[in-house]
Amino acid sequence: MTAPFKPLKKPLRSRAWFNNPDNPDMTALYLERYLNYGLTREELQSDKPIIGIAQTGSDLSPCNRHHIELAKRVREGIREAGGICMEFPVHPIQETGKRPTAGLDRNLAYLGLVESLYGYPLDGVVLTIGCDKTTPACLMAAATVDMPAIALSVGPMLNGWHRGERTGSGTIIWKAREMMARGDLDYEGFIDLVATSAPSVGYCNTMGTATTMNSLAEALGMSLPGSAAIPAPYRERAQVAYETGRRIVDMVREDLKPSDILTKEAFHNAIVVNSAIGGSTNAPIHLTALARHAHVDVPLEDWQTKGLHVPLLVNLQPAGAYLGEDYHQAGGVPAVVAELMRQGLIHEGAMTVNGMTMGDNCRNAEIVLPDVIRTFDTALKTDAGFVVLSGSLFNSAVMKLSVISPEFRDRYLSNPDDPNAFEGPVVVFDGPEDYHHRIDDPATGITEQTLLVMRGAGPIGYPGAAEVVNMRPPAHLIKKGITALACIGDGRQSGTSGSPSILNASPEAAAGGNIALIQTGDRVRIDLNTGRADILIPEAELAERREGLKAAGGYAYPASQTPWQEIQRSMVGQLETGAVLESAVKYHRIIDT
Ligand code: FES
Ligand code: MG
Repeated sequence: MTAPFKPLKKPLRSRAWFNNPDNPDMTALYLERYLNYGLTREELQSDKPIIGIAQTGSDLSPCNRHHIELAKRVREGIREAGGICMEFPVHPIQETGKRPTAGLDRNLAYLGLVESLYGYPLDGVVLTIGCDKTTPACLMAAATVDMPAIALSVGPMLNGWHRGERTGSGTIIWKAREMMARGDLDYEGFIDLVATSAPSVGYCNTMGTATTMNSLAEALGMSLPGSAAIPAPYRERAQVAYETGRRIVDMVREDLKPSDILTKEAFHNAIVVNSAIGGSTNAPIHLTALARHAHVDVPLEDWQTKGLHVPLLVNLQPAGAYLGEDYHQAGGVPAVVAELMRQGLIHEGAMTVNGMTMGDNCRNAEIVLPDVIRTFDTALKTDAGFVVLSGSLFNSAVMKLSVISPEFRDRYLSNPDDPNAFEGPVVVFDGPEDYHHRIDDPATGITEQTLLVMRGAGPIGYPGAAEVVNMRPPAHLIKKGITALACIGDGRQSGTSGSPSILNASPEAAAGGNIALIQTGDRVRIDLNTGRADILIPEAELAERREGLKAAGGYAYPASQTPWQEIQRSMVGQLETGAVLESAVKYHRIIDT
């Protein structure tokens, strides 16, 4: 005999649609349409929670496409736990396929999902997360609506291989483009090498933004423990889909909501985990956005104070050697959290979707492959978090310290006694097209001490903010063995890239930031001790340039190509505050209002 279902802690929201004796007209109208494909009145008028499956997979979104299959197991779990399932589409987001940038789509998918969750008869939702921005878009919507919600990762692809070596999706491209620039690969060889990195369904198998955000969803407590790292094709992936479906029904009965889980402690746990896994520089943007929609105060500075000194424990490309299957086999997120717990760095009492605390879920998790997930004693690098910089160049930007090599420090060192300050002349590019046209042009005059500046790539300038700040050096330097120059930009960087870059500079050029004033040939000084980033020109000169820019009508950027680009540009904030739609932030816990 199966155990009886738990009692409902409060009446189901969906009853207002399907069983409202005060309004029989509307009840009849709602019912007749949802009966028309075979649901029965008994199902819709009993106390069965109605669970949405927010489907992010489609042919347009191959990283998440496997969710179409997984949803079948989610449905079985929902049914078995006594719920009714209603699956519906989320606006597609495909990181690499969307032009001009998938950054535009996070806020659009967020808006659409808020409307679906608010406007339809749903009591809870399974968020099918995966490709970079699908995860924050779904979590942001769940935070705004605040109905019981559980995230299900689609899981990474299997490991890519080429001649016995692991090839990581999104990461091999950086190596392959160097090989092509050196003349070691032709066009055919280039495409073939890159394609080896994506051998199956799933999202990028590297520690890019997808693995980062799926790991952080688990670290926040929003997905079942141990679920984030399971590769998409593994049997455990479908099994956890089923468990996720079962669990959301009880979450509705218990009324366990995102506001119970997404606390300040949960965000601080996620920041610490992000450093330990070598997470993407997109994480501060997305977690800031999520925290703002959850109405939790997590300033950008927390990334430095909580995260900077945490060492790198997870040995995944681009910072390390392994890939997604190895991460899962090694123990995944719980093994990382357990090691951080042993150092006292985790708020163990943080609640999670399974109704237990982070501490209880992870305390006994083991590191199974010690080369893939390290301990503090065997960490790959110290200080794997981000430095938050500010100065005359911008109000804020982040830099991932773990990717700065000793050779890099030597080239830029301004004072041999101070390895944490460096400076050099800049070459400025206005948007990614300008960079692509000129990077190999000798007239650009790039040397091994040059800092490359990319502007016009922020949320307004290149609507959505493009992942273009990871600029490779010109071919003539690569041939000399210089594979990375310091980059500074008001755009983002792909999480799969390892270039030493100062990213997410806010305000962007298009919003009047000082990065609009810098000119090729100016010198810039970065001091990681003090967190300063300054243009080394007198303030009077800066003021004069500012007047000149104002007289010219401000920093010029391309016109919008679609209605959404124009709408987003009119409402979006800067990367330092999550690049959210500012007027959306005030809406919170909207199903209770
Ligand atoms: Fe979709 Fe990497 S491009 S997960
Ligand atoms: Mg990306």
